[in-house]
Parts: sequence; structure tokens; C-alpha cells
Amino acid sequence: MSKLILELNSLEITDVVARKTAAHLFPGAVLLFWGNMGAGKTTFAKSLCAGLGIPHETVISPTYTMVNIYSGKWTILHVDLFRLTAPEQLDDFDREDLFADDGITLVEWPEFITDHLTDEPVLNLYFKTVSEYQRQLIIKSEFDDFDTLLKTL
Ligand SMILES: Nc1ncnc2c1ncn2[C@@H]1O[C@H](COP(=O)(O)OP(=O)(O)OP(=O)(O)O)[C@@H](O)[C@H]1O
Ligand SMILES: [Mg+2]
Repeated sequence: MSKLILELNSLEITDVVARKTAAHLFPGAVLLFWGNMGAGKTTFAKSLCAGLGIPHETVISPTYTMVNIYSGKWTILHVDLFRLTAPEQLDDFDREDLFADDGITLVEWPEFITDHLTDEPVLNLYFKTVSEYQRQLIIKSEFDDFDTLLKTL
């Protein structure tokens, strides 16, 4: 288990960390974004996607649509399960609606998706609000696929 604690003390630092993260991703990677409302999950996702060639303005919060699909270097599924109230609500989805096996999967509010994970390489990102412009990010993974990323950040 690797773990890294980062202080995202400005929007600029969040942008840099997210773009560096993007540079180390690979098809099949699943990123779970944990943290309260306003903790910075979508903001980080926007910069991460920008790092993968998706224009900043294309990436919008999928709170209402539940899943946004972006096509760039790889397909990116941007999932937001904030509105789910029970895990069974995911039973109507096909696996490929939720996971981009040949691309990158980003999931905000991922509580209910964890039961659907099999052996995908998962990177957990825990966002915490410290002050108006400061966030703390804890990154954890049990998969060595992310070792270089964690060493680089
Ligand atoms: N250092 C920082 N890193 C990230 N966001 C920051 C930072 N400082 C301020 N912010 C602001 O915090 C807000 C984060 O909102 P964002 O939509 O990214 O949160 P979220 O975690 O996705 O919330 P939700 O659960 O509602 O989807 C944005 O308005 C952003 O500009
Ligand atoms: Mg969000």
C-alpha cells in the first residue's frame, strides 16, 4: 500500500498535481475521488482531463447526468454518484457504462461503486477542505501500477 499526502495550497498547485497525475495514467486505470462537496474533486478532474487533451470547458460536473464521456487520447468516463441513495441503483448500469476498460475512469462520490470493482488498478484520492483556497489530498493505492506516479508527485 502506497500513500502520499499533498498540500494543495492554491488552485495553481491543484492544476499542476492533476496534470502530473494525468501524465502517469494508463488505459484501465480507475481513479476514485473521495471528499465532501466543494473539496475539489471536479476541479482536479478538469485539470487531469486537460492533461489528457480534453479542453477544460468540456469537463463539467456529471452530478445530474451521472456519467460524462470525453474522447481524447483515451476515452474518459467521468462518473458522479452523488445522487445515488442505494447501491442497487447501479444494477441498471452495464459495466461498460461505468468503467472504461480501454480508457480512464474517474468517479466522484464512489461509495457505491466499490462493490462493482473486480481487479482494476484503483487509485484513491481523498480531498479535504483546509481553508478557502487550501485543500489536502491524500493519495493511496494498493496497486504498484501507480508507484512511479506516487514517487514523482
Ligand atoms: N486549492 C484548491 N484546489 C481545488 N479547488 C479549490 C482550491 N481552492 C479553491 N478551490 C475551489 O473549491 C471549489 C471546488 O469545487 P469542486 O466542484 O471541484 O468540488 P467537488 O469536490 O467536485 O464538489 P461536489 O461534491 O459538489 O461535486 C471550486 O470552486 C474551486 O475553485
Ligand atoms: Mg464535483
